[in-house]
Amino acid sequence: MDASERALDRAAHNAGPRPAPAPGRRAAVLSGVAGWVPPGTVANADLADRLDTTDEWIRTRTGIAQRHTVPPGTATREMAAEAGRLALKSAGRDTVDAVVLATVTPDRHCPATAPEVATALGLGPVAAHDVSAVCAGFLYALASAAGSIAAGFADHVLVIGAETFSAIVDPDDRNTAIIFGDAAGAVVLRAGDPDEPGALGPVRLGSDGAHSDLIQIPAGGARQRLAGTDPAPGEYCLRMQGRKVYRHAKERMSQAAHDVLERSGWSIGDVDRLATHQANARITEAVADELGVPRDRVLSNIEHVGNTSAASLPLLLADAASSGLLLPHHRVLLAAFGAGLVWGAASLTWPDVTALSVHTYRG
Ligand code: UT7
Repeated sequence: MDASERALDRAAHNAGPRPAPAPGRRAAVLSGVAGWVPPGTVANADLADRLDTTDEWIRTRTGIAQRHTVPPGTATREMAAEAGRLALKSAGRDTVDAVVLATVTPDRHCPATAPEVATALGLGPVAAHDVSAVCAGFLYALASAAGSIAAGFADHVLVIGAETFSAIVDPDDRNTAIIFGDAAGAVVLRAGDPDEPGALGPVRLGSDGAHSDLIQIPAGGARQRLAGTDPAPGEYCLRMQGRKVYRHAKERMSQAAHDVLERSGWSIGDVDRLATHQANARITEAVADELGVPRDRVLSNIEHVGNTSAASLPLLLADAASSGLLLPHHRVLLAAFGAGLVWGAASLTWPDVTALSVHTYRG
């Protein structure tokens, strides 16, 4: 067996079912949750002329009615700090051991934005880093934070998803400009017992770089800079092959969610709430149908916020918990998908936590 065969063999082994965490192991427990959206909104009607589209087309094909955008002079750091501050309040804490920020719209390519967020929150010299996994970023960040807690490297971690997609979306691209919005969401994880409500259950993450071109920003990276070619107009913006992405999103989220169900020892009837990355309402419904989750158990806020990438899941959880749609002891199945391609799923039983959501879309 040569090196590449050994790698494939290892990957196949790693992809197989694994036992659930043994009782008594140290687990990451959700102890606070919050969402934050900037006050400015862009309604479908505001896009109609420029993009040769209609409110009805966007609502029917995506479920979106409006999205939010940051005001001038602010970007990801400010939104992340707002959501982080609320999540800490929700958890009743003013200290953590680490900050993990999921974003693909950092304020600058270098350095990461998380250290500035930690400073803005007055958290002192804690560990802080960004995670780049686009719309699956929150689940990747959650897994990283939970791993730190399980390993004993940290007792409390602030996990934030924050995105300023208005900075990378081409306003003339009707494939993307109708979908994406700016927002932030955050949770606090603490060390606890695997059997208590809020304990993060099995997590399933995956990737497929063979389809990296399906959603990308062509220019601005090391490869393009070193090639010495001038980017074409618009190449600093997000490009997406929507229809192909749609198919992958449905398949990958369904499969990952199914794997997590098995690892959790849950049947589909045990799932009280399905919380998927809010990419497109039709994708969420297709994943629910594929899994067999009844529509009245499916959480959704895409109508009010659009697709907010890494902010999507924590914002959805905060909105659902603060509006009473997500209740203590509900068994929640989470799934996300994004550019990369990357995807993930996780499960947890919802804890008794006071969610803070700066919204409820301000009317
Ligand atoms: O966040 C994770 C990654 N992102 C996603 O998961 C997003 C996945 N993709 C999508 O949500 C959908 O593919 C879109 C919303 C982007 C597009 O919807 P679609 O139903 O896949 O439309 P389509 O691209 O297949 O286009 C169908 C038709 C085309 O017209 P013809 O060729 O059939 O005459 C398009 O030109 O709809 C037209 N079209 C539009 N019409 C009005 C495409 N976009 C628009 C638009 N307004 N905004």
